[in-house]
Amino acid sequence: MSEQIHRLVYFSRNAMPGTEDEIVAGVQQILASSRSNNARAGVTGALLFNSGCFAQVLEGPTPAVTETFERIQWDERHSEVLVLEYAPWLPVPSPTGRCPSSAPTGPISSCSATSP
Ligand SMILES: Cc1cc2nc3c(=O)[nH]c(=O)nc-3n(C[C@H](O)[C@H](O)[C@H](O)COP(=O)(O)O)c2cc1C
Repeated sequence: MSEQIHRLVYFSRNAMPGTEDEIVAGVQQILASSRSNNARAGVTGALLFNSGCFAQVLEGPTPAVTETFERIQWDERHSEVLVLEYAPWLPVPSPTGRCPSSAPTGPISSCSATSP
């Protein structure tokens, strides 16, 4: 049986003080550690930062997503963390029951439909 994949989406407010340049440097640090940690954990997603707010999508094996988010939610560089979505990712098989040939690869978009 294939492993369960979850998607988690949250919103939060920046709590890093400083000038715009200092905040941008802080966001770059977050991105650097996120890229290496997430790649190691098999987690993908996106981090948006705009007007003092973050939004992030995390997708990957359920334990990896929950462990990653556990660290993130206690991070003092942001506050008011609000989870918008936490849901299992379900593959949508094609009418033939086969993976579409154009299916992108990766832990989120990989198709787990079985052949007839
Ligand atoms: C808005 C925000 C998003 C973050 N996203 C991630 C993430 O996707 N993955 C991650 O490992 N850490 C993320 N972090 C950082 C974690 O809270 C934590 O500092 C980090 O995982 C600790 O690992 P390190 O010691 O390797 O830096 C984020 C922090 C903030 C404030």
